[in-house]
Amino acid sequence: MDTISTSKQAIQLEEKYGAHNYHPLPVVLTRGEGVFLWDVEGKRYFDFLSAYSAVNQGHCHPRIKNAMIEQVGTLTLTSRAFYNDILGPFEKYITEYFGFDMVLPMNTGAEGVETAVKLARKWGYERKGVSENQAKIIVAENNFHGRTTTIISFSNDANARKNFGPFTDGFIRIPYNNLDALIEALKIEGVVGFLIEPIQGEAGVYVPEEGYLRKAKEACAAQNVLFIADEIQTGIARTGSLLAVCGNCTCEGHCEKQETYTKPDILILGKAISGGFYPVSAVLADREIMDVIKPGQHGSTFGGNPLGAKVAMTALEVVRDEKLAQNARKLGIIFRERMQKLVDKNPIAKLVRGKGLLNAVVINDSPESPTAWNICVKLAENGLLAKPTHGNIIRFAPPLVMTEEQLHECCDIIEIVIPEFNK
Ligand SMILES: Cc1ncc(COP(=O)(O)O)c(C=O)c1O
Repeated sequence: MDTISTSKQAIQLEEKYGAHNYHPLPVVLTRGEGVFLWDVEGKRYFDFLSAYSAVNQGHCHPRIKNAMIEQVGTLTLTSRAFYNDILGPFEKYITEYFGFDMVLPMNTGAEGVETAVKLARKWGYERKGVSENQAKIIVAENNFHGRTTTIISFSNDANARKNFGPFTDGFIRIPYNNLDALIEALKIEGVVGFLIEPIQGEAGVYVPEEGYLRKAKEACAAQNVLFIADEIQTGIARTGSLLAVCGNCTCEGHCEKQETYTKPDILILGKAISGGFYPVSAVLADREIMDVIKPGQHGSTFGGNPLGAKVAMTALEVVRDEKLAQNARKLGIIFRERMQKLVDKNPIAKLVRGKGLLNAVVINDSPESPTAWNICVKLAENGLLAKPTHGNIIRFAPPLVMTEEQLHECCDIIEIVIPEFNK
């Protein structure tokens, strides 16, 4: 294997031998610990992306690391052809943690979404009585649920779709955060599910109106349609509660506070469920829904393996024991207050929005302009890693183990860099 000693060398190798399906910032990372990352030249950065919210517990969390090391030397993969002694305890733990009867474990987020789509369709045919091949799922404009062929079939991102057709049928797209549009779409024959991100992360951190999710769930229930929450990015304490559908509840586990909690019929989790150590995703539902899946109808060689199950269980324990939701809530308020002051004083910054530690600053320039990219390059030079989404939106999502003092230090960096771009 080539030994990498400079950033340039690593970038050249990726450019030459790797498919160009990403456009990374020119930073080559070699080590991570908590909220910090180091590049191959030894420069230290605050991580403000958290691998797209997969590292909520911080990089290389020692407790998750130890659990992984222990399991890695014991048993890693059996396939589901046999039982293993970690999967059952994990399934009990995660279902009690989130308050569902059953779970279907997979690996990546996109697989979780695919699983939910299949589950909702099957439920529609077998429990709701939808005619064969007529099932439809309502989705939102500007959604991001992953990259598989079916998932891009209901995306409206031209770049994600172009020349990847033909696409999968059976999806109806409506505007996000628009209850009237949902109520209309729910009248269409054959609708079995409404798939929604409780906050649209990739689209640029769009937070729906207060009460939208609850009313959307009620509208779905009135038509016997499943409310499917994709919390792959928003879940696991990121937005200041255990799940974004928990509303403003700050408790660290599942609770049934009806005034704040919108219980999805199907919940999809991924990313931080395993703290960045190992791909694990999970689809949770109650028995009358999950029971439609029978042996041989869905699965994955790695889904539910003992290594992933052990890592995920420990990663969830860390979220609860370290009160990460509460920390995300507290720090999120401080971050938005400071960024709001920045926005008020600097014309190049248009607005700040978000919840918990999932936030975005919108740059006052066109999405085609390089301004947000250049700001991120400059932030990196100053020791903070963030990445633009959709051209002119910068997402700020640090690991949730950040301290208040560290957050203030990061805000200082952002407040130095962004004003340099005022025109
Ligand atoms: C809301 C949401 N759903 C699904 C996915 C896809 O997850 P993965 O990249 O693990 O397939 C993502 C990834 O960013 C996401 O943000």
